[in-house]
Amino acid sequence: MSAELKKALYNISALADLGQAITSESVFHEKIQSVFYVITGTFLANRGAILSYDKSADRLITVTQKGFPPADLDRVDPEKLMSLGKNEPFLIGDSPVLAIAGVKILAPLWVRDEFIGVLLLSGKLTGSPYTQEDLELLNVIAHQIAIALNNHSLFMDLSDKLEENRRLYEEMRHIYHGTLQAFAAAIDAKDAYTQNHSYRVAKYSTAIARELGWNEHDIEGMYVAGYLHDVGKLAISNDLLNKVTPFTPEERAEIRKHSTTSHNITSKIKFPWQNVQDMVWHHHERLDGCGYPEALAQESLSDGVRILSLADSFDAMTSQRPYRKKMDVQTAITELKKCLESQFDNKIMLVFCKVLEKEIKGELPEPDILPYLDRDSDLSVISSMLEAIIQELSAP
Ligand SMILES: [Fe+2]
Ligand SMILES: [Fe+2]
Repeated sequence: MSAELKKALYNISALADLGQAITSESVFHEKIQSVFYVITGTFLANRGAILSYDKSADRLITVTQKGFPPADLDRVDPEKLMSLGKNEPFLIGDSPVLAIAGVKILAPLWVRDEFIGVLLLSGKLTGSPYTQEDLELLNVIAHQIAIALNNHSLFMDLSDKLEENRRLYEEMRHIYHGTLQAFAAAIDAKDAYTQNHSYRVAKYSTAIARELGWNEHDIEGMYVAGYLHDVGKLAISNDLLNKVTPFTPEERAEIRKHSTTSHNITSKIKFPWQNVQDMVWHHHERLDGCGYPEALAQESLSDGVRILSLADSFDAMTSQRPYRKKMDVQTAITELKKCLESQFDNKIMLVFCKVLEKEIKGELPEPDILPYLDRDSDLSVISSMLEAIIQELSAP
């Protein structure tokens, strides 16, 4: 092999190392284009093309070319090429293999038993014929281009599949959230006094979980638990839920069944989160073991349960109820603080105060609690109150 051809082969090998470089469609096209120019330059061909075979459409697609009418390239019949030798350069002469004027040599591109495409070249500018040495070099090049095209198409297939999976997952999440919202709206619609309660509890709970440093997956689980914690109320009659006078012991017992019903309903759903059912089941448990439905001891209460319990109570207190007026924010916070250790967890209360304080100070770009608090609230009073609690609870 002549020194020039050896050099050309080296250049092409270096450029055709596309297996390593198929990171994107544009990088691939840039590389294949360079390879193509080296080939046409090496053989002094003024026209040439690399076509790839689209199996699903049973047609050849132009990857890169110069000098041929595009319409002619579109007409190349893949069937005819498949009957020729794999990666073997084929001198056309007078043979009617292709209906393209000026094609002198072609190499059908194959990887194992898979037809990948074709490399076409015109005659040399010098008018001299292709030599046996040229054909050998073209055979090596054809192998390399075939592998590169095949790798690229596998890569693109994989990318398409990944993209499709990502899209389906997004769609599923969208539907999931829509269904949750519909559920929450059904719960809240039953009880005229607690409109959007589920939504707010979901927001407050996730704000606390985020401040606690939970990961995104677990935060989403917290959000779902917030949305569904009172789903069991769907089984309670509207009259009882909206009763203005105090509940009788029997009525109270009936109402208290809702967290177990919430658990029974959510247990039927295969959530991607481990602890949603536990959180909805135990959102009325207390640290002193006097909660319901199981009167669990505090060791059995997860952080998620403790968060949901505090967020639920805070929203319940700051919302109007049939049997009592809503509390202002300061009174509700005082109430939460009074119930620390008996009902609510110190650490969760500290985090709740910190996140609300940050929201008041404008330190969080998307506040989750502040927008739902009473508009008449005196934020500076609340802020100094929060600061005092934070200091007290942070003390060793
Ligand atoms: Fe509840
Ligand atoms: Fe609730």
